[in-house]
Amino acid sequence: MSALFQPLSLRDVTIPNRVWMPPMCQYSAAPDGPDAGAPDDWHFAHYAARAAGGTGLIVVEATAVSPEGRISPYDLGIWNDTQVEAFRRITRFLVSQGTVPGIQLAHAGRKASTDRPWTGGAPLAPDAYGWQPVGPSPLAFDENHPVPTELTVDQIRETVGQFADAARRALAAGFEIAEIHGAHGYLIGNFLSPHSNHRTDAYGGSYENRTRFALEVVDAVRQVWPDDKPLFFRVSATDWLAEGGWTPDDTVRFARDLRAHGIDLLDVSSGGNASGVRIPTGPGYQVPFAARVKAETSLPVAAVGLITDVEQAEKILVNEEADAVFLGRELLRNPSWARLAARELGGDVHVPDQYHRSV
Ligand SMILES: Cc1cc2nc3c(=O)[nH]c(=O)nc-3n(C[C@H](O)[C@H](O)[C@H](O)COP(=O)(O)O)c2cc1C
Repeated sequence: MSALFQPLSLRDVTIPNRVWMPPMCQYSAAPDGPDAGAPDDWHFAHYAARAAGGTGLIVVEATAVSPEGRISPYDLGIWNDTQVEAFRRITRFLVSQGTVPGIQLAHAGRKASTDRPWTGGAPLAPDAYGWQPVGPSPLAFDENHPVPTELTVDQIRETVGQFADAARRALAAGFEIAEIHGAHGYLIGNFLSPHSNHRTDAYGGSYENRTRFALEVVDAVRQVWPDDKPLFFRVSATDWLAEGGWTPDDTVRFARDLRAHGIDLLDVSSGGNASGVRIPTGPGYQVPFAARVKAETSLPVAAVGLITDVEQAEKILVNEEADAVFLGRELLRNPSWARLAARELGGDVHVPDQYHRSV
C-alpha cells in the first residue's frame, strides 16, 4: 500500500492523500478597484485543475491580511468581504473534487511593494502603485529594496488583529486549513531572525522576544480558527547564514513552542530572509530540516523543495522524514501528478467522472 495515498487526519479534517500543493503566488489579481485582491478566472482555473488532478490538499497562495501586506499590488488579499465571496467559488470546487482547501495568510513585511517577477520584480515606488514597506527594524533586505519603517508596538498589535480578521474571513470563505506564513523573509520571518530584527523592546533581542510576534499571531488566529480545524505554520528552517541568522536549532525549539500554541503541522521551507547567501539546492534539499523536526518533536511536518519524482516522494514518507510532501513547480508543470503517481503506485485517488475514460 502506497504511503503517498494514505489519508492524513489532523483534528477533524481528513486529507485524502499526502500529495499537496504549496502556496504559489500567481500575481494575477486586480491591483485596485472594487475587486482588488480578489481571485478571478485565472485563480479558479489554476486551482481547479490541480484539484481535478487528485491533489489531496491545496494551500492557496500567500494571501495578504492587509493591502500593505501584499508582496506585489497583484497579490490576493483577504481583508474584505468581496474577496471572501470570490474565494467561495474556489473552495466549493475544491471540496467537490475531494481536495481539502487551505489558504496561506501572509504579510510581506520588508519585501512588500514589488513588481511581478515576470516584469522584473523590482521594488515599486509609492508613485508607481507601490507603498512604503514595514518591518521590525529599519534594515533593508538588500541594496535594491527600500529601508522599511519600523513598526511601533501599536502597529504590531494592529497587525496581529489583521491576521485574526483574515482567519475569520478565510473560515467564512470555506477554507478548512489555514497556514500562517512565517517563512521566506516576509514580516513574521523578519521578526524571527536576528539578521532582520534589531529591536531592543519586547519584540527583539532574545529568542523569546523574536518569536513573540509569531506566537501572538498564532494565538490570535487559533482563537478564531475553530478547534476542529487544523492550523499550519510555514517556517524557513534556516537563513543559510554562517552566523547571525535563524538556525535549524532555532526551528526545532520553535516547533515545540508552535505545538504548545496549537499549531498542527510545520511546513518546512528555508531561506529568503538574507540576501547574497549560497543555498545548496538539489533534489529534496530541504527534507533534512523537516526530518529533524519530525525526529526531535511530536509536531507533524510537511517537506517541500525540489520533490518531483514519484519514487522520491514515496520514500520521504516511508522513511518517516515527513508526514506529507508539497510539490510546487512540478504541479505547475503537471496538474495531474497525483493521479499519475497513484497509477504508478497503485494508490486510490479521486478521478472526476468526466475523466473516467482516461484512467
Ligand atoms: C511561482 C511561485 C510562487 C510562490 N509563491 C509562494 C507563496 O505564495 N508562499 C510561499 O510560502 N511560497 C511560495 N513559493 C515557494 C513554493 O511554495 C515552494 O516552497 C517552492 O517552489 C519550492 O518547492 P518546489 O521545488 O516543489 O517548487 C512560490 C514558488 C513559486 C514557484
